[in-house]
Amino acid sequence: MLNIVLFGPPGAGKGTQSQYIIEKYNLIHLATGDMLRAEISEKTQMGLEAKKFIDKGQLVPDETVIGMIAHKLEKHSNASGFVFDGFPRTTVQAAKLDEMLQKHGAPISLMISLEVGKDELIARLLNRGKISGRTDDQSESTIRRRLEVYNTETLPVMDYYKKQGKYREIYGMGTIEEIFQRICKVIDETKGK
Ligand code: AP5
Ligand code: MG
Repeated sequence: MLNIVLFGPPGAGKGTQSQYIIEKYNLIHLATGDMLRAEISEKTQMGLEAKKFIDKGQLVPDETVIGMIAHKLEKHSNASGFVFDGFPRTTVQAAKLDEMLQKHGAPISLMISLEVGKDELIARLLNRGKISGRTDDQSESTIRRRLEVYNTETLPVMDYYKKQGKYREIYGMGTIEEIFQRICKVIDETKGK
């Protein structure tokens, strides 16, 4: 199995690169942000609760996202691997993911961290906000709040994987294709081990 955590701040390109990775390596894409937005558009209780956090640029409670991931892992128990996009975002989530994957037979293979400068992140998200309708992309203050939350609550996840020797950094600026090639190189090295 190939289990990849695709890591990086809001706007780093996690969703964009995930699409290429899952296609090339035949993996399942598990993006908690996408799952939460689906809950919101279906107006479920969970979605309505989550929306309050998302609109403020804050993280949704750990139990909510852990529950969603657990459900998907069960559902795709025959998958050849997963790309985790936007999860884990806290060390509690990271530890829980290790625990859940133990049951599914294969640990995280590597964590790929996309490195992009703050000004570029803000520009990308403001630009997407004009067309996407994503409520959390609409104002620069919400975008800045998301970046702060990333720095305080999510960055420790990087150390979690560094300690496991699974952390790999990728330069996340340039064309989508250039970045994808850098990612493939790291994945192929890991697979070859
Ligand atoms: P989530 O949906 O995960 O959003 P995010 O982390 O803020 O990241 P984005 O989806 O905005 O960015 P991305 O890295 O996927 O970049 P993308 O490829 O889209 O989470 C949203 C919210 O849900 C969170 O704030 C939180 O409230 C909640 N949530 C989700 N998961 C959670 C969890 N585990 N725990 C708790 N709460 C959780 O690219 C961005 C833009 O840039 C696009 O327009 C794209 O076209 C463009 N772009 C991509 N690559 C390039 C490039 N190379 N050059 C130029 N532009 C590019
Ligand atoms: Mg995304």
